[in-house]
Amino acid sequence: MSLDSLEEIPGVGPAIAKKLYEAGYRTPEAVAVATPKEIAIAAEIGESTAAKIIEAARELVNIGFISAEEFLEQRKKISQIMTGCKSLDELLGGGIETRGITELFGEFRTGKTQICHQLSVTVQLPVESGGLNGEAVYIDTEGTFRPERLVQIAKRFGLDQKKVLQGVTYARAYNSDHQLYLAQSVEDLINEGKNIKLIIVDSIVGHFRSEYVGRGLLAERQQKLNKHLHTLLRLAELYNLAVVVTNQVMAKPDTFFGDPTQPVGGHIVAHNCTTRIYLRKGKGNQRIARVVDSPFLPEQETVFLITEDGVVDM
Ligand code: GTP
Ligand code: MG
Repeated sequence: MSLDSLEEIPGVGPAIAKKLYEAGYRTPEAVAVATPKEIAIAAEIGESTAAKIIEAARELVNIGFISAEEFLEQRKKISQIMTGCKSLDELLGGGIETRGITELFGEFRTGKTQICHQLSVTVQLPVESGGLNGEAVYIDTEGTFRPERLVQIAKRFGLDQKKVLQGVTYARAYNSDHQLYLAQSVEDLINEGKNIKLIIVDSIVGHFRSEYVGRGLLAERQQKLNKHLHTLLRLAELYNLAVVVTNQVMAKPDTFFGDPTQPVGGHIVAHNCTTRIYLRKGKGNQRIARVVDSPFLPEQETVFLITEDGVVDM
């Protein structure tokens, strides 16, 4: 079925279609937004042939300029997952958006992982209650995922605990390669029929930071991180799902992060549909969230609490 749609791309025969499919490029859209290098490797062809195939795929799916009116139509397809905390939802203009990457960044214990746990539950709520009636994928690079936490939060929303646990597909990523592999595999889960509406990567750069130490490896690290984010963004747009990533930022920024108000991993995630939320500690269990450099949202702050019930209003 999908192989047929790949063969609609001029220049793609059954052999190339099969290789592309097996490498995770399952639609002309996926090919259209890939780079020649990626397609060359996937299909075992030369880069110039790959470039021609990409160009043909772009014509087929009509990727390129669109009118502002069409852009508005596309934006209307964006849905939101409520966070379960009114003040945070207001800050975000309704909730976490699909079709983009939301980055939660801040120091340790600022609530990044707690918000991720809560979203894995709220995404499962019916649409009329602020969820997307969908499932979550949780890619955990730090070993801080706690299903017990999901149970506590599910109780608060009156959801069936067992169902909530079944609605989160979990994987521990052991290194950056494994992390990339897991993100790519989300498409298989979707093809198997899972209604994935949220992908969490907690944290996005932890492994990269420990594996690529020193200036000499910076370019390689950025390239790999770029590929990873590209995979996530592609999934977000193709399947109209939300991606949430966390990023720890030190109070005193080290050379790796540079300016903490810069996008994760340099300018690599500087994409217009990316929302960045900066978290910091307040008094006791108070936490402060601020939206940073969003093209759509005003730069505002709000205070929330971390309690047994999860992330709640003051
Ligand atoms: P790093 O991953 O270390 O960068 O931190 P983080 O930003 O992910 O922090 P996390 O989301 O793990 O938040 C940790 C904070 O939540 C701590 O201050 C905990 O005390 C608090 N916390 C976690 N579980 C509970 C709970 O059940 N009740 C209460 N009151 N607080 C909790
Ligand atoms: Mg954490």
